[in-house]
Amino acid sequence: MLVRLDGQVAIITGGVSGIGEATARLFIEEGANVIIADVNNPKGEELANELGDRATYVYTDVTEEEEVKQLINQTVEKFGKLDILFNNAGVGPVMDTAEMNDDQWNRVIEVNLNGVFYGTKHAVSHFREKGSGVIINTASMLGHVGQSQTAAYSASKAGVVNLTRATALEYAKYNVRVNAVCPGYVKTPLMEQLEEGDIEELAQVTPLGRLGKAEEVAKAVLFLATDDSSFITGTSLIVDGGYTAK
Ligand SMILES: NC(=O)c1ccc[n+]([C@@H]2O[C@H](COP(=O)([O-])OP(=O)(O)OC[C@H]3O[C@@H](n4cnc5c(N)ncnc54)[C@H](O)[C@@H]3O)[C@@H](O)[C@H]2O)c1
Repeated sequence: MLVRLDGQVAIITGGVSGIGEATARLFIEEGANVIIADVNNPKGEELANELGDRATYVYTDVTEEEEVKQLINQTVEKFGKLDILFNNAGVGPVMDTAEMNDDQWNRVIEVNLNGVFYGTKHAVSHFREKGSGVIINTASMLGHVGQSQTAAYSASKAGVVNLTRATALEYAKYNVRVNAVCPGYVKTPLMEQLEEGDIEELAQVTPLGRLGKAEEVAKAVLFLATDDSSFITGTSLIVDGGYTAK
């Protein structure tokens, strides 16, 4: 079988659950060595064991720059290189803006935006030296359109969309491609905070009439990770069942 990531080394943050987990599974199938970076300890180790020798779990809180730096440096030491960084860890509280305190606001920005900054910063110093590299950031369709009760989340994801453009421009000369994937409503544990009726409503407002699957987003990430997208950088690939086409 032809595998598309044979021998490639990929870090996936938030790789223990949902979109990150589906991408870890797909990357392993495609021949990559995958470092799953997350803060979900027992499950992370279980997942890496299940995925086999080419999967490793490394506890990493993306809001801690030193941990992200170590994750990347240790990966390069162990494998001799890093090829793909998937900055995917994210949190998405749904709440009234008027009820949100500073800590709640800051937490969303720290995970969703600062985490992408730290990953990018420490990966590009290695990619520049190597003369190649791919970064994929998980933004959201809410980086392009607004939605009530998601002020911090929508702001963080719009930040990721434009951080993606800025860093794509900055590092293109080193043959580093930086793109974002922007999921719509996808059935993952992130959705567990919603009532069943609300989830049904999200399916109904999606033109394709259903929620997306994590595996469908993972396939878009795979496209952005491989040479199939070799002339694509600075873009946002929207995977939303048509939601933002309205
Ligand atoms: N599910 C959706 O509908 C949807 C839509 C658009 C965008 N997204 C984005 O997709 C990404 C993945 O979300 P998901 O839906 O798979 O949710 P999920 O909750 O299943 O996965 C998120 C993962 O991130 C990890 N994580 C959280 N904080 C972390 C931290 N500080 N450091 C490291 N890891 C951390 C969690 O432990 C979890 O494994 C997020 O960035 C999310 O904003 C999801």
